[in-house]
Amino acid sequence: MTVKKEEKLIDWSEDKILAFRETLLDWYDREKRDIPWRHHADNPYYIWVSEIMLQQTQVATVIPYFERFISTLPTIQALAEAEEEVLMHLWQGLGYYSRVRNMQTAAQQIMDEYHGEMPRTYEELLQLKGIGPYTAAAIASIAYGIPEPALDGNLIRIVTRLFNLHDDITKAKSKRLFRDIYKLLIDPERPGDFNQALMDMGATIMTASNPYPEPHPLKVFDASYQAKTAHLLPNKPKKVKQTQHLMNAYLVYNHEGAILMRKHEKGELLQDLWHFPIIEQQSLQENNDLNHLHEFREWINKQGIEDVDILRARKMDLPSIKHVFSHRIWELDRFLIVTNEFELPQGMVWIQLEDLVDYPISTLQKKLLKDIKG
Ligand code: ADE
Repeated sequence: MTVKKEEKLIDWSEDKILAFRETLLDWYDREKRDIPWRHHADNPYYIWVSEIMLQQTQVATVIPYFERFISTLPTIQALAEAEEEVLMHLWQGLGYYSRVRNMQTAAQQIMDEYHGEMPRTYEELLQLKGIGPYTAAAIASIAYGIPEPALDGNLIRIVTRLFNLHDDITKAKSKRLFRDIYKLLIDPERPGDFNQALMDMGATIMTASNPYPEPHPLKVFDASYQAKTAHLLPNKPKKVKQTQHLMNAYLVYNHEGAILMRKHEKGELLQDLWHFPIIEQQSLQENNDLNHLHEFREWINKQGIEDVDILRARKMDLPSIKHVFSHRIWELDRFLIVTNEFELPQGMVWIQLEDLVDYPISTLQKKLLKDIKG
């Protein structure tokens, strides 16, 4: 990009850019949050783990997960070699389990291609499974001092507010513009701190819900604050619609008092985690005892299971449960079924409720167990 073009991008002088960096970094040096991985900024593996966890959860929630993860798997090699059950346990409750699976694939890639050392350039980081522009930039800037913009939603909000930009933030063209502007702002001496300072600013002061914060350390730089348009930013058209699904979850007891659990297969939602059998309601008829039993029998037959005697079946008198995925919403009713002890195919087990702690389960399964345990 030529200097001329850069000058047109924003109407800030070089002095204003320098003043902005100084104001922001002074504020960060005084107010930065004390977060464990900030004491290990030179360890790209720690930064990687923390950034992946932070993509889905807030800092306060992530801290204990982070500490457990790095003490169990302290190196890239340990992650590459970890048992899947260990990974699932470490991630249990964070959601988006594909993220930790991708991390393991990337760790194996690093063992094979980089002798177990995290690659040191933004472009190489981008080649790793599960590492996109945001994470690559966060690692490159924090661990290696490379001035790459770690633009997540919070930082995009800040850029649109600082420059009073009303471009639709979901458009690729707008994102390129924000990125180009951010590249002009980022401090080449302290890019990791610059990125993290804006992350803290976005989390604590320039929050989504507070367009006119007081006090506001960046007030003089905030064009939308001055123009009283900050509440309109960022400009983000409505989300894609999620589809609604009515589901039945079956608490199946055999007469030995064991319950039936099933591991979700590859390609299913909540893959590799153990659940009660969950079946989408097929008929739109009333979800009464008879209809659901019919659907349960059909499902059992489809699994190739034979010799099932259903001794008792009823809808449980418990509130239905809502579980939200990125693109679908499940509403689940719970049913109790008592059967004989029949033979199970691979991926299903009979276990005593108290032995469930040995199995990785999802947050959804935890919700299903609520009001049932004890
Ligand atoms: N959110 C995502 N990454 C972060 C970081 N490094 N510091 C603070 N908040 C963050």
